[in-house]
Amino acid sequence: MSLLEISNLAGGYPRTRVLDGVDLTVERGGVLALLGRNGVGKTTLLHTVMGMLPGTGSIKFQGRDLLGLSTHQIARAGIALVPQGRRVFAPLTVDENLRISARGGNAAAWTPKRAYELFPGLAERRTNYAGQLSGGEQEMLSIARALVTNPDLLLMDEPSDGLAPAIIKTVGEAVTELARVGVTVLLVEQNLALALDVADEVAVMSKGRITFSGAPSELKGDSRRVRELLGVG
Ligand SMILES: Nc1ncnc2c1ncn2[C@@H]1O[C@H](COP(=O)(O)OP(=O)(O)OP(=O)(O)O)[C@@H](O)[C@H]1O
Ligand SMILES: [Mg+2]
Repeated sequence: MSLLEISNLAGGYPRTRVLDGVDLTVERGGVLALLGRNGVGKTTLLHTVMGMLPGTGSIKFQGRDLLGLSTHQIARAGIALVPQGRRVFAPLTVDENLRISARGGNAAAWTPKRAYELFPGLAERRTNYAGQLSGGEQEMLSIARALVTNPDLLLMDEPSDGLAPAIIKTVGEAVTELARVGVTVLLVEQNLALALDVADEVAVMSKGRITFSGAPSELKGDSRRVRELLGVG
């Protein structure tokens, strides 16, 4: 059984249908990178999986149907979102951000302590307000906050967006490390180099559908193919 199986998913907003028959399967373990130009529906897809937007078709997580469940129920089922733009709780400290999100107690795989071990820079800032952090630090906090809910599947929405190259490298290393320790990652990215670097599998979305899925090696170095799919490269 696949970890996440999306079939013929349609959805969007009251007056705008964005998802137009998405088929996407995420296998347990590893990183699936979902690429696509601005506005094709990547965030809409993640929000529909999280139950923040309605959809029709099917979304199955560990065999269980998610459509119709609340975001809260979906989070409890084991999915966490690292949202585009980070959305940390600015007026709370780093520590408070993690403590209010933590679930599973001290015996859980991911505690704030372990998240600090993954991101030592964050540990140094634990008494700072999240609103005072740099973009890179906020991204680490956003990832850590999702991790302490102990998800089986982590949805990451453009974690590298707006970050300096050195920080993007740290984000990439964190994604690789998460996959190594058993967290499955669905990574939405516009940074092609980063995505191809960390992904085990790649999918491309265009106008509400998946138009490519395969191995990163199929796109690496094939700039013509990349241009056709993404309009870049
Ligand atoms: N709240 C909303 N109400 C109506 N339409 C929306 C809303 N949010 C997004 N859209 C539209 O839905 C489409 C898909 O948007 P979405 O945010 O999913 O794209 P995306 O692939 O995540 O883009 P980006 O890479 O820029 O984040 C766009 O045409 C966008 O304008
Ligand atoms: Mg988006």
